[in-house]
Amino acid sequence: MPAEGSTGFSGPQYPGRITSSVIIACCVASSGGLIFGYDIGISGGVTSMDSFLSKFFPSVDQLEEQGTSSSQYCKFDSQLLTLFTSSLYLAALVSSSVAATVTRKYGRKCSMFLGGLTFLVGAVINGVASDVLMLILGRVLLGIGVGFTNQSVPLYLSEMAPAKHRGTLNIGFQLMVTIGILIANLINYGTAQITGGWGWRLSLGLAAVPALIITIGSLLLPETPNSLVERGKNDQAKRILVKIRGVADVHPEYEEIVAACDEARAIKHSWSNILKSKYRPQLIISSLIPLFQQLTGINVIMFYAPVVLKTIGFGINASLLTAVITGIINVGATVVSILLVDRAGRRPLFLWGGIGMFLCQVAVGALIYAQFGVSGAGTVIKKFAAPVLFFICVYVAAFACSWGPLGWLVPSEIFPLEIRSAGQGITVSMNMLSTFAIGQTFLSMLCYMKFGLFYFFAVWVVIMTLFILFFVPETKNVPIEEMMLVWSNHWFWNRYIADEDIIGNRYSNYGT
Ligand code: BGC
Repeated sequence: MPAEGSTGFSGPQYPGRITSSVIIACCVASSGGLIFGYDIGISGGVTSMDSFLSKFFPSVDQLEEQGTSSSQYCKFDSQLLTLFTSSLYLAALVSSSVAATVTRKYGRKCSMFLGGLTFLVGAVINGVASDVLMLILGRVLLGIGVGFTNQSVPLYLSEMAPAKHRGTLNIGFQLMVTIGILIANLINYGTAQITGGWGWRLSLGLAAVPALIITIGSLLLPETPNSLVERGKNDQAKRILVKIRGVADVHPEYEEIVAACDEARAIKHSWSNILKSKYRPQLIISSLIPLFQQLTGINVIMFYAPVVLKTIGFGINASLLTAVITGIINVGATVVSILLVDRAGRRPLFLWGGIGMFLCQVAVGALIYAQFGVSGAGTVIKKFAAPVLFFICVYVAAFACSWGPLGWLVPSEIFPLEIRSAGQGITVSMNMLSTFAIGQTFLSMLCYMKFGLFYFFAVWVVIMTLFILFFVPETKNVPIEEMMLVWSNHWFWNRYIADEDIIGNRYSNYGT
Protein backbone atom coordinates (compact mmCIF):
# COMPACT_ATOMS: atom_id res chain seq x y z
CA MET A 1 0.00 0.00 0.00
CA PRO A 2 1.28 3.49 0.56
CA ALA A 3 4.97 2.71 0.69
CA GLU A 4 5.66 5.90 -1.15
CA GLY A 5 8.79 7.09 0.58
CA SER A 6 10.86 6.26 -2.46
CA THR A 7 9.80 7.22 -5.93
CA GLY A 8 10.16 3.72 -7.34
CA PHE A 9 11.68 5.60 -10.23
CA SER A 10 14.24 3.71 -12.26
CA GLY A 11 14.65 6.07 -15.19
CA PRO A 12 17.62 8.12 -16.30
CA GLN A 13 19.43 10.85 -14.38
CA TYR A 14 20.86 13.39 -16.80
CA PRO A 15 24.33 14.87 -16.36
CA GLY A 16 24.42 18.42 -15.13
CA ARG A 17 25.09 20.43 -12.04
CA ILE A 18 23.75 23.63 -10.57
CA THR A 19 25.55 26.24 -12.68
CA SER A 20 25.82 29.94 -11.93
CA SER A 21 23.68 30.74 -14.95
CA VAL A 22 20.86 28.55 -13.68
CA ILE A 23 21.16 30.11 -10.22
CA ILE A 24 21.03 33.65 -11.60
CA ALA A 25 18.08 32.84 -13.87
CA CYS A 26 16.19 31.20 -11.02
CA CYS A 27 16.89 34.09 -8.61
CA VAL A 28 15.57 36.63 -11.10
CA ALA A 29 12.50 34.57 -11.93
CA SER A 30 11.78 33.88 -8.27
CA SER A 31 11.43 37.60 -7.74
CA GLY A 32 7.97 37.03 -9.24
CA GLY A 33 7.17 35.64 -5.81
CA LEU A 34 8.03 39.03 -4.28
CA ILE A 35 4.97 40.73 -5.72
CA PHE A 36 2.70 37.97 -4.51
CA GLY A 37 4.23 38.01 -1.04
CA TYR A 38 4.35 41.79 -0.77
CA ASP A 39 0.69 41.92 -1.44
CA ILE A 40 -0.24 39.19 1.03
CA GLY A 41 1.68 41.02 3.75
CA ILE A 42 0.61 44.54 2.99
CA SER A 43 -3.16 44.20 3.01
CA GLY A 44 -3.41 42.81 6.55
CA GLY A 45 -1.45 45.71 8.04
CA VAL A 46 -3.15 48.39 5.99
CA THR A 47 -6.62 47.19 6.96
CA SER A 48 -5.72 47.57 10.62
CA MET A 49 -4.61 51.23 10.19
CA ASP A 50 -7.18 53.73 11.46
CA SER A 51 -6.40 56.37 8.81
CA PHE A 52 -7.06 53.81 6.07
CA LEU A 53 -10.22 52.48 7.70
CA SER A 54 -11.68 55.94 8.36
CA LYS A 55 -11.09 57.01 4.74
CA PHE A 56 -12.42 53.93 2.96
CA PHE A 57 -14.37 51.88 5.51
CA PRO A 58 -15.77 54.38 8.01
CA SER A 59 -18.37 51.96 9.36
CA VAL A 60 -15.70 49.45 10.46
CA ASP A 61 -13.66 52.25 11.95
CA GLN A 62 -16.63 53.53 14.00
CA LEU A 63 -17.51 50.06 15.21
CA GLU A 64 -13.96 49.49 16.32
CA GLU A 65 -13.55 52.87 18.03
CA GLN A 66 -16.85 52.82 19.87
CA GLY A 67 -16.37 49.19 20.79
CA THR A 68 -20.11 48.77 20.01
CA SER A 69 -19.73 45.20 18.83
CA SER A 70 -20.91 42.95 21.66
CA SER A 71 -18.48 40.20 20.70
CA GLN A 72 -14.72 40.42 20.37
CA TYR A 73 -15.03 37.88 17.58
CA CYS A 74 -17.18 40.18 15.40
CA LYS A 75 -15.37 43.53 15.64
CA PHE A 76 -14.01 43.56 12.11
CA ASP A 77 -16.74 41.66 10.29
CA SER A 78 -17.30 43.76 7.13
CA GLN A 79 -17.87 42.28 3.67
CA LEU A 80 -16.50 45.41 1.98
CA LEU A 81 -13.32 45.28 4.01
CA THR A 82 -12.76 41.63 3.16
CA LEU A 83 -13.57 42.37 -0.49
CA PHE A 84 -10.61 44.76 -0.49
CA THR A 85 -8.33 41.91 0.49
CA SER A 86 -9.91 39.16 -1.56
CA SER A 87 -10.78 40.95 -4.84
CA LEU A 88 -7.17 40.45 -5.89
CA TYR A 89 -7.53 36.69 -5.73
CA LEU A 90 -10.67 36.70 -7.81
CA ALA A 91 -8.85 38.59 -10.56
CA ALA A 92 -5.85 36.25 -10.29
CA LEU A 93 -8.15 33.29 -10.60
CA VAL A 94 -9.48 34.47 -13.95
CA SER A 95 -6.17 35.73 -15.31
CA SER A 96 -4.23 32.56 -14.59
CA SER A 97 -6.22 30.64 -17.22
CA VAL A 98 -5.43 33.33 -19.79
CA ALA A 99 -1.82 33.17 -18.62
CA ALA A 100 -1.78 29.41 -19.27
CA THR A 101 -2.35 30.04 -22.98
CA VAL A 102 0.15 32.92 -23.15
CA THR A 103 2.78 30.83 -21.35
CA ARG A 104 2.37 27.94 -23.76
CA LYS A 105 2.17 29.96 -26.98
CA TYR A 106 4.57 32.81 -26.27
CA GLY A 107 6.81 31.42 -23.56
CA ARG A 108 7.28 31.66 -19.80
CA LYS A 109 9.12 35.00 -19.99
CA CYS A 110 6.25 36.70 -21.77
CA SER A 111 3.81 35.84 -18.97
CA MET A 112 6.25 37.04 -16.32
CA PHE A 113 6.69 40.34 -18.13
CA LEU A 114 2.96 40.94 -18.58
CA GLY A 115 2.35 39.99 -14.95
CA GLY A 116 4.99 42.43 -13.66
CA LEU A 117 3.71 45.27 -15.83
CA THR A 118 0.05 44.89 -14.84
CA PHE A 119 1.02 44.68 -11.20
CA LEU A 120 3.03 47.89 -11.57
CA VAL A 121 0.01 49.81 -12.88
CA GLY A 122 -2.15 48.39 -10.08
CA ALA A 123 0.37 49.48 -7.44
CA VAL A 124 0.38 53.06 -8.74
CA ILE A 125 -3.44 53.25 -8.80
CA ASN A 126 -3.62 51.93 -5.25
CA GLY A 127 -1.01 54.37 -4.00
CA VAL A 128 -2.99 57.39 -5.29
CA ALA A 129 -6.50 55.96 -4.64
CA SER A 130 -9.13 58.48 -3.59
CA ASP A 131 -12.14 56.17 -3.23
CA VAL A 132 -13.03 52.52 -2.70
CA LEU A 133 -13.61 52.01 -6.42
CA MET A 134 -10.04 53.05 -7.29
CA LEU A 135 -8.78 50.91 -4.50
CA ILE A 136 -10.57 47.83 -5.81
CA LEU A 137 -9.63 48.59 -9.44
CA GLY A 138 -5.98 48.73 -8.34
CA ARG A 139 -6.38 45.43 -6.50
CA VAL A 140 -7.90 43.80 -9.58
CA LEU A 141 -4.87 44.83 -11.66
CA LEU A 142 -2.55 43.52 -8.97
CA GLY A 143 -4.51 40.28 -9.10
CA ILE A 144 -4.14 39.96 -12.87
CA GLY A 145 -0.40 40.44 -12.39
CA VAL A 146 -0.22 37.77 -9.70
CA GLY A 147 -2.22 35.35 -11.87
CA PHE A 148 0.33 35.70 -14.68
CA THR A 149 3.46 35.46 -12.56
CA ASN A 150 2.25 32.62 -10.34
CA GLN A 151 1.29 30.67 -13.42
CA SER A 152 4.64 31.11 -15.15
CA VAL A 153 7.34 31.40 -12.45
CA PRO A 154 6.97 27.97 -10.75
CA LEU A 155 6.85 26.36 -14.20
CA TYR A 156 9.92 28.28 -15.30
CA LEU A 157 11.85 27.19 -12.22
CA SER A 158 10.89 23.53 -12.49
CA GLU A 159 11.95 23.43 -16.15
CA MET A 160 15.26 25.25 -15.67
CA ALA A 161 16.39 23.16 -12.71
CA PRO A 162 18.28 19.87 -13.05
CA ALA A 163 16.05 17.13 -11.58
CA LYS A 164 18.25 16.60 -8.53
CA HIS A 165 17.97 20.22 -7.45
CA ARG A 166 14.49 20.98 -8.69
CA GLY A 167 13.00 21.20 -5.18
CA THR A 168 15.66 23.61 -3.96
CA LEU A 169 15.44 25.93 -6.95
CA ASN A 170 11.67 25.85 -7.18
CA ILE A 171 11.28 26.79 -3.53
CA GLY A 172 13.18 29.98 -4.44
CA PHE A 173 9.71 31.16 -5.50
CA GLN A 174 8.20 30.52 -2.09
CA LEU A 175 11.27 32.03 -0.41
CA MET A 176 10.63 35.23 -2.34
CA VAL A 177 6.95 35.07 -1.37
CA THR A 178 7.94 34.96 2.29
CA ILE A 179 10.55 37.71 1.86
CA GLY A 180 7.87 39.81 0.16
CA ILE A 181 5.53 39.23 3.11
CA LEU A 182 8.27 40.16 5.59
CA ILE A 183 9.23 43.34 3.73
CA ALA A 184 5.57 44.31 3.62
CA ASN A 185 5.21 43.70 7.36
CA LEU A 186 8.25 45.88 8.07
CA ILE A 187 6.98 48.62 5.80
CA ASN A 188 3.56 48.54 7.49
CA TYR A 189 5.22 48.78 10.87
CA GLY A 190 7.15 51.84 9.64
CA THR A 191 4.31 53.58 7.79
CA ALA A 192 1.90 53.10 10.71
CA GLN A 193 4.13 55.53 12.65
CA ILE A 194 3.64 58.26 10.03
CA THR A 195 1.42 60.99 11.37
CA GLY A 196 -0.78 62.73 8.82
CA GLY A 197 -2.71 59.64 7.77
CA TRP A 198 -0.94 58.90 4.48
CA GLY A 199 1.23 55.99 5.65
CA TRP A 200 -1.05 53.47 3.95
CA ARG A 201 -0.41 55.18 0.59
CA LEU A 202 3.27 54.47 0.94
CA SER A 203 2.54 50.85 1.91
CA LEU A 204 0.36 50.26 -1.13
CA GLY A 205 2.42 52.33 -3.60
CA LEU A 206 5.72 50.65 -2.73
CA ALA A 207 4.40 47.47 -4.35
CA ALA A 208 5.72 49.15 -7.50
CA VAL A 209 9.29 48.26 -6.48
CA PRO A 210 9.01 44.45 -6.62
CA ALA A 211 6.86 44.89 -9.74
CA LEU A 212 9.71 46.75 -11.45
CA ILE A 213 12.17 44.02 -10.47
CA ILE A 214 10.21 41.21 -12.12
CA THR A 215 9.19 43.34 -15.13
CA ILE A 216 12.78 44.28 -15.97
CA GLY A 217 14.17 40.95 -14.77
CA SER A 218 11.93 38.97 -17.10
CA LEU A 219 13.38 40.79 -20.10
CA LEU A 220 16.88 39.68 -19.16
CA LEU A 221 16.13 36.01 -18.48
CA PRO A 222 16.81 33.14 -20.88
CA GLU A 223 13.71 31.18 -21.94
CA THR A 224 13.45 27.54 -20.76
CA PRO A 225 14.69 24.85 -23.20
CA ASN A 226 11.31 23.11 -22.90
CA SER A 227 9.39 26.21 -23.95
CA LEU A 228 11.82 26.90 -26.82
CA VAL A 229 11.45 23.38 -28.20
CA GLU A 230 7.69 23.67 -27.70
CA ARG A 231 7.80 26.70 -30.00
CA GLY A 232 10.12 25.14 -32.59
CA LYS A 233 13.31 26.97 -31.55
CA ASN A 234 15.39 23.82 -31.17
CA ASP A 235 18.87 25.23 -31.79
CA GLN A 236 18.40 27.96 -29.26
CA ALA A 237 17.06 25.38 -26.80
CA LYS A 238 20.18 23.25 -27.17
CA ARG A 239 22.47 26.24 -26.65
CA ILE A 240 20.64 27.22 -23.47
CA LEU A 241 20.65 23.65 -22.19
CA VAL A 242 24.45 23.47 -22.60
CA LYS A 243 24.80 26.74 -20.74
CA ILE A 244 22.51 25.98 -17.83
CA ARG A 245 23.65 22.38 -17.31
CA GLY A 246 27.35 23.24 -17.57
CA VAL A 247 28.19 20.13 -19.65
CA ALA A 248 28.92 19.86 -23.36
CA ASP A 249 26.86 16.73 -23.95
CA VAL A 250 23.24 17.48 -23.20
CA HIS A 251 22.02 15.11 -25.87
CA PRO A 252 20.02 12.67 -23.68
CA GLU A 253 18.10 15.43 -21.90
CA TYR A 254 17.62 17.38 -25.12
CA GLU A 255 16.23 14.31 -26.88
CA GLU A 256 13.91 13.74 -23.96
CA ILE A 257 12.54 17.27 -24.23
CA VAL A 258 12.09 16.91 -28.00
CA ALA A 259 10.26 13.61 -27.52
CA ALA A 260 8.04 15.19 -24.87
CA CYS A 261 7.36 18.04 -27.29
CA ASP A 262 6.44 15.71 -30.13
CA GLU A 263 3.91 14.11 -27.85
CA ALA A 264 2.72 17.53 -26.79
CA ARG A 265 2.27 18.68 -30.40
CA ALA A 266 0.08 15.71 -31.18
CA ILE A 267 -2.30 17.09 -28.59
CA LYS A 268 -4.24 20.08 -29.83
CA HIS A 269 -6.43 20.96 -26.89
CA SER A 270 -4.56 20.76 -23.63
CA TRP A 271 -7.59 21.92 -21.62
CA SER A 272 -9.85 19.11 -22.74
CA ASN A 273 -7.01 16.59 -22.79
CA ILE A 274 -6.32 17.11 -19.16
CA LEU A 275 -9.62 15.34 -18.47
CA LYS A 276 -8.34 12.08 -19.97
CA SER A 277 -8.05 9.18 -17.58
CA LYS A 278 -4.24 8.96 -17.83
CA TYR A 279 -3.95 12.49 -16.40
CA ARG A 280 -6.36 11.83 -13.52
CA PRO A 281 -3.61 11.65 -10.86
CA GLN A 282 -2.17 15.01 -11.90
CA LEU A 283 -5.58 16.63 -12.23
CA ILE A 284 -6.73 15.54 -8.79
CA ILE A 285 -3.46 16.26 -7.01
CA SER A 286 -2.95 19.65 -8.64
CA SER A 287 -6.50 20.69 -7.72
CA LEU A 288 -6.48 19.39 -4.16
CA ILE A 289 -3.02 20.54 -3.10
CA PRO A 290 -3.72 24.26 -3.57
CA LEU A 291 -7.16 23.87 -1.99
CA PHE A 292 -5.68 22.09 1.00
CA GLN A 293 -2.87 24.64 1.22
CA GLN A 294 -5.44 27.32 1.88
CA LEU A 295 -7.45 25.11 4.22
CA THR A 296 -4.44 25.01 6.53
CA GLY A 297 -5.73 28.45 7.50
CA ILE A 298 -2.37 30.13 6.83
CA ASN A 299 -3.88 33.25 5.36
CA VAL A 300 -5.88 33.87 8.46
CA ILE A 301 -2.50 34.64 9.96
CA MET A 302 -1.00 36.30 6.88
CA PHE A 303 -3.94 38.59 6.08
CA TYR A 304 -5.48 39.15 9.43
CA ALA A 305 -2.82 38.56 12.09
CA PRO A 306 -2.70 42.27 12.98
CA VAL A 307 -6.51 42.46 13.02
CA VAL A 308 -6.88 39.25 15.03
CA LEU A 309 -4.19 40.26 17.49
CA LYS A 310 -5.85 43.64 17.90
CA THR A 311 -9.04 41.70 18.57
CA ILE A 312 -7.43 39.74 21.38
CA GLY A 313 -6.05 42.84 22.98
CA PHE A 314 -2.71 43.74 21.42
CA GLY A 315 -2.09 47.43 20.63
CA ILE A 316 -1.62 48.45 16.99
CA ASN A 317 2.18 48.54 17.27
CA ALA A 318 2.34 45.22 19.07
CA SER A 319 0.07 43.67 16.41
CA LEU A 320 2.17 44.93 13.54
CA LEU A 321 5.37 43.93 15.31
CA THR A 322 3.99 40.43 15.78
CA ALA A 323 3.36 40.26 12.07
CA VAL A 324 7.05 41.09 11.62
CA ILE A 325 8.04 38.27 13.97
CA THR A 326 5.89 35.69 12.17
CA GLY A 327 7.28 37.08 8.90
CA ILE A 328 10.86 36.36 10.01
CA ILE A 329 9.91 32.84 11.11
CA ASN A 330 8.18 32.28 7.77
CA VAL A 331 11.37 33.16 5.86
CA GLY A 332 13.64 31.13 8.18
CA ALA A 333 11.55 27.97 8.00
CA THR A 334 11.33 28.25 4.21
CA VAL A 335 15.14 28.17 4.11
CA VAL A 336 15.01 24.97 6.18
CA SER A 337 12.66 23.40 3.65
CA ILE A 338 15.03 24.42 0.83
CA LEU A 339 17.79 22.49 2.57
CA LEU A 340 15.64 19.41 3.14
CA VAL A 341 13.36 19.06 0.13
CA ASP A 342 15.73 17.26 -2.26
CA ARG A 343 17.26 15.15 0.50
CA ALA A 344 14.42 14.10 2.79
CA GLY A 345 11.89 14.41 -0.03
CA ARG A 346 8.47 16.02 -0.29
CA ARG A 347 6.41 13.52 1.67
CA PRO A 348 8.23 13.70 5.03
CA LEU A 349 7.99 17.50 4.96
CA PHE A 350 4.28 17.40 4.16
CA LEU A 351 3.59 14.86 6.91
CA TRP A 352 5.64 16.47 9.70
CA GLY A 353 4.39 19.93 8.79
CA GLY A 354 0.81 18.66 8.99
CA ILE A 355 1.31 17.21 12.46
CA GLY A 356 2.92 20.45 13.69
CA MET A 357 0.14 22.65 12.35
CA PHE A 358 -2.55 20.42 13.81
CA LEU A 359 -1.13 20.58 17.33
CA CYS A 360 -0.76 24.36 17.20
CA GLN A 361 -4.30 24.93 15.93
CA VAL A 362 -5.76 22.82 18.71
CA ALA A 363 -3.71 24.78 21.25
CA VAL A 364 -4.64 28.24 19.88
CA GLY A 365 -8.34 27.28 19.77
CA ALA A 366 -8.20 26.18 23.40
CA LEU A 367 -6.41 29.34 24.53
CA ILE A 368 -8.84 31.64 22.76
CA TYR A 369 -11.76 29.70 24.19
CA ALA A 370 -10.26 30.08 27.64
CA GLN A 371 -9.97 33.82 27.08
CA PHE A 372 -13.22 34.75 25.39
CA GLY A 373 -15.43 31.71 25.87
CA VAL A 374 -18.30 31.10 23.48
CA SER A 375 -19.89 34.55 23.77
CA GLY A 376 -16.71 36.44 22.93
CA ALA A 377 -17.57 38.85 25.73
CA GLY A 378 -14.53 38.13 27.89
CA THR A 379 -11.83 40.65 28.49
CA VAL A 380 -8.21 40.30 27.56
CA ILE A 381 -6.06 38.49 30.04
CA LYS A 382 -2.46 39.28 29.25
CA LYS A 383 -1.06 35.94 30.35
CA PHE A 384 -2.76 34.30 27.35
CA ALA A 385 -1.07 36.56 24.81
CA ALA A 386 2.39 34.98 25.03
CA PRO A 387 1.29 31.35 24.56
CA VAL A 388 -1.06 32.34 21.70
CA LEU A 389 1.83 34.05 20.02
CA PHE A 390 4.13 31.10 20.64
CA PHE A 391 1.77 28.62 19.00
CA ILE A 392 1.11 30.97 16.09
CA CYS A 393 4.86 31.14 15.48
CA VAL A 394 5.32 27.35 15.60
CA TYR A 395 2.32 26.97 13.30
CA VAL A 396 3.84 29.38 10.76
CA ALA A 397 7.17 27.51 10.94
CA ALA A 398 5.42 24.18 10.32
CA PHE A 399 3.53 25.62 7.33
CA ALA A 400 6.65 27.24 5.90
CA CYS A 401 8.55 23.92 5.99
CA SER A 402 5.76 22.05 4.29
CA TRP A 403 2.56 23.18 2.61
CA GLY A 404 3.88 26.68 1.83
CA PRO A 405 6.66 25.69 -0.56
CA LEU A 406 5.34 22.26 -1.52
CA GLY A 407 1.94 23.66 -2.38
CA TRP A 408 3.63 25.31 -5.36
CA LEU A 409 6.45 22.85 -6.01
CA VAL A 410 4.59 19.56 -6.31
CA PRO A 411 1.88 20.67 -8.76
CA SER A 412 4.47 22.37 -10.96
CA GLU A 413 6.57 19.22 -11.33
CA ILE A 414 3.98 16.52 -11.98
CA PHE A 415 2.49 17.48 -15.36
CA PRO A 416 3.80 16.18 -18.67
CA LEU A 417 4.70 18.94 -21.11
CA GLU A 418 1.56 18.53 -23.24
CA ILE A 419 -0.67 19.70 -20.41
CA ARG A 420 1.84 21.51 -18.20
CA SER A 421 0.71 25.06 -18.85
CA ALA A 422 -2.96 24.23 -18.51
CA GLY A 423 -2.21 22.17 -15.39
CA GLN A 424 -0.33 25.01 -13.75
CA GLY A 425 -3.24 27.28 -14.70
CA ILE A 426 -5.56 24.98 -12.77
CA THR A 427 -3.25 25.01 -9.75
CA VAL A 428 -3.11 28.79 -9.65
CA SER A 429 -6.87 29.15 -10.20
CA MET A 430 -7.60 26.69 -7.45
CA ASN A 431 -5.18 28.39 -5.09
CA MET A 432 -6.65 31.80 -5.83
CA LEU A 433 -10.24 30.58 -5.57
CA SER A 434 -9.58 29.09 -2.16
CA THR A 435 -7.58 32.12 -1.04
CA PHE A 436 -10.50 34.30 -2.15
CA ALA A 437 -13.02 32.16 -0.32
CA ILE A 438 -11.03 32.18 2.91
CA GLY A 439 -10.13 35.86 2.61
CA GLN A 440 -13.75 36.77 2.00
CA THR A 441 -15.34 34.61 4.67
CA PHE A 442 -12.76 34.51 7.44
CA LEU A 443 -13.92 37.52 9.44
CA SER A 444 -17.54 36.32 9.27
CA MET A 445 -16.45 32.79 10.11
CA LEU A 446 -14.59 34.11 13.15
CA CYS A 447 -17.73 35.99 14.14
CA TYR A 448 -19.94 32.86 13.89
CA MET A 449 -17.64 29.92 14.58
CA LYS A 450 -15.62 31.80 17.18
CA PHE A 451 -12.70 29.81 18.62
CA GLY A 452 -14.15 26.76 16.82
CA LEU A 453 -12.70 28.21 13.62
CA PHE A 454 -9.28 26.98 14.69
CA TYR A 455 -10.70 23.47 15.08
CA PHE A 456 -12.30 23.74 11.66
CA PHE A 457 -8.86 24.24 10.12
CA ALA A 458 -7.35 21.54 12.36
CA VAL A 459 -9.79 18.96 10.97
CA TRP A 460 -8.81 19.93 7.44
CA VAL A 461 -5.14 19.50 8.31
CA VAL A 462 -5.89 15.92 9.40
CA ILE A 463 -7.69 15.23 6.12
CA MET A 464 -4.91 16.66 3.96
CA THR A 465 -2.21 14.81 5.88
CA LEU A 466 -4.02 11.52 5.27
CA PHE A 467 -4.36 12.48 1.61
CA ILE A 468 -0.60 12.92 1.34
CA LEU A 469 0.02 9.67 3.19
CA PHE A 470 -2.07 7.60 0.81
CA PHE A 471 -2.22 9.45 -2.49
CA VAL A 472 0.82 11.63 -3.09
CA PRO A 473 3.91 9.71 -4.21
CA GLU A 474 7.45 10.95 -3.67
CA THR A 475 8.66 13.03 -6.62
CA LYS A 476 12.16 14.01 -5.54
CA ASN A 477 14.93 13.37 -8.10
CA VAL A 478 12.54 12.29 -10.88
CA PRO A 479 13.28 14.11 -14.18
CA ILE A 480 10.30 16.28 -15.01
CA GLU A 481 9.60 14.64 -18.38
CA GLU A 482 9.68 11.17 -16.78
CA MET A 483 7.06 11.70 -14.10
CA MET A 484 4.59 9.33 -15.79
CA LEU A 485 6.55 6.39 -14.37
CA VAL A 486 5.80 7.51 -10.83
CA TRP A 487 2.06 7.13 -11.37
CA SER A 488 2.36 3.78 -13.05
CA ASN A 489 4.23 2.54 -9.97
CA HIS A 490 1.73 3.89 -7.47
CA TRP A 491 -0.66 1.50 -5.64
CA PHE A 492 -3.74 3.66 -6.40
CA TRP A 493 -2.99 5.81 -9.43
CA ASN A 494 -1.66 2.93 -11.56
CA ARG A 495 -5.28 1.99 -12.38
CA TYR A 496 -5.51 5.14 -14.52
CA ILE A 497 -2.36 4.46 -16.51
CA ALA A 498 -2.88 1.98 -19.32
CA ASP A 499 0.00 -0.17 -20.52
CA GLU A 500 0.13 1.71 -23.82
CA ASP A 501 0.74 4.96 -21.93
CA ILE A 502 4.05 3.46 -20.86
CA ILE A 503 4.93 0.57 -23.13
CA GLY A 504 5.65 1.44 -26.72
CA ASN A 505 6.54 5.01 -25.99
CA ARG A 506 9.68 6.67 -24.73
CA TYR A 507 9.19 5.57 -21.12
CA SER A 508 9.54 1.91 -22.02
CA ASN A 509 13.29 2.35 -22.44
CA TYR A 510 13.66 2.67 -18.71
CA GLY A 511 11.39 -0.10 -17.53
CA THR A 512 8.68 0.48 -15.02
C1 BGC B 1 0.54 30.63 -0.13
C2 BGC B 1 -0.02 31.91 0.35
C3 BGC B 1 0.50 32.20 1.74
C4 BGC B 1 2.01 32.16 1.77
C5 BGC B 1 2.54 32.35 3.16
C6 BGC B 1 2.05 30.68 -0.07
O1 BGC B 1 2.58 29.48 -0.49
O2 BGC B 1 0.10 30.35 -1.45
O3 BGC B 1 -1.41 31.88 0.30
O4 BGC B 1 0.05 33.44 2.18
O5 BGC B 1 2.47 30.95 1.26
O6 BGC B 1 3.93 32.28 3.19
